[in-house]
Amino acid sequence: MAQWDLVLTDARIATMRRDAADYGIIEDAAIAIAGESIAWVGPISEIPPGDANETRSLAGQWVTPALIDCHTHLIFGGDRAGEFEDRLQGVSYEDVARAGGGILSTVRATREADHDTLFDAAMVRLNALTASGAATVEVKSGYGLDIETEIKMLEVARQLDAASAVSVKATLLAAHAVPPEFKNDADAYIDLVCSELIPAVATRKLADAVDAYCEDIAFSAAQVKRVFDTARDHNLQIKLHADQLSDGGGAALAASFSGLSADHLEYASAAGITAMADAGTVAVLLPGAYLTLNETQQPPIDEMRSCGVAVALATDCNPGTSPLTSIREAMALGCRLFRLTPEECLAGATREAARALGLDDRGTIEPGHRADLAVWDINHPRDLSYWLGRQLLSGLLIAGSDVRLI
Ligand code: NIG
Ligand code: FE
Repeated sequence: MAQWDLVLTDARIATMRRDAADYGIIEDAAIAIAGESIAWVGPISEIPPGDANETRSLAGQWVTPALIDCHTHLIFGGDRAGEFEDRLQGVSYEDVARAGGGILSTVRATREADHDTLFDAAMVRLNALTASGAATVEVKSGYGLDIETEIKMLEVARQLDAASAVSVKATLLAAHAVPPEFKNDADAYIDLVCSELIPAVATRKLADAVDAYCEDIAFSAAQVKRVFDTARDHNLQIKLHADQLSDGGGAALAASFSGLSADHLEYASAAGITAMADAGTVAVLLPGAYLTLNETQQPPIDEMRSCGVAVALATDCNPGTSPLTSIREAMALGCRLFRLTPEECLAGATREAARALGLDDRGTIEPGHRADLAVWDINHPRDLSYWLGRQLLSGLLIAGSDVRLI
């Protein structure tokens, strides 16, 4: 007879399995959990004989895979509310960046902040993401732009993982902006990133992936290629901020390295989307940045659909372009700004987000997956994209354990 730690009964489940239609809905369902994993899921009438340490009725509430935020810049010093006000007066994001503000002003604040200050501020934002249903959160560096501060940021990311129930994945984004010390010599900064920073980060296992910002105001495709060649030599996965403000061939560049994901993509070309489909690179869409930048060019979603590119959604939580701390709210924005369906948004914040992080043990409710489960006080899974601003989460399990929602 099966031995379980916890059985959830009287549940309505959206499994979000890739092979199931209509959210993978199972009514009158049960989920059996053993240790950190899902052991069985299905209609309660079909549950096999088993012994459970605890059985809990969910009284008809909905269960989905816990949400996954696959693109954030959660760790940073200060904020950019002043820049937000300036941009409302008509100053563009690029103008702010070229004048040494924007990302570089956060770099100054992040260099000045000590480890504990960065940790405490990021933990507040991580708790907010958790309260919105996230059990896995990716966090990037990229506000240090020198060896010491990039490493400090990644250490904070590893500490967030250790100190919270949430699974935190760390990404090195050293090629985010040209640091002031290398103002007229971006190539020399890329030399430093490739010869010293990536090897040090790889040796200390401080990052799971490497990301870069391919854009006129950041790094060229040739410079990003050098970073990716080095990342590949060190067995680090690849992601890219691609074609956010202009078509710089970023989608195709990420695909040429079999990147896990290319992110933003408002200006991606049809050829870039085809290359992503061929490489299995996930499109990560970031409606919070689109909204905050007052962007009007939508990412080419119809091309993504027709080519079969997997679409994930994330908050892009950062002080400049997306001060968004709710992954469920990112889903709600994905429907409104990009005309994604509520089902695409839920898949984008679960199954496809897992894929964008290279994680094959989560993102759907199925036997063998981690028991990362979100319990919602809703009538249907579409409600998760419908409501704005409401707290809908009533419970969260991460790796089979209850998480206290703050
Ligand atoms: O994802 N595009 C580049 N990086 C961030 C913005 C960072 C910032 O402005 O601080 C983004 O939008
Ligand atoms: Fe970003």
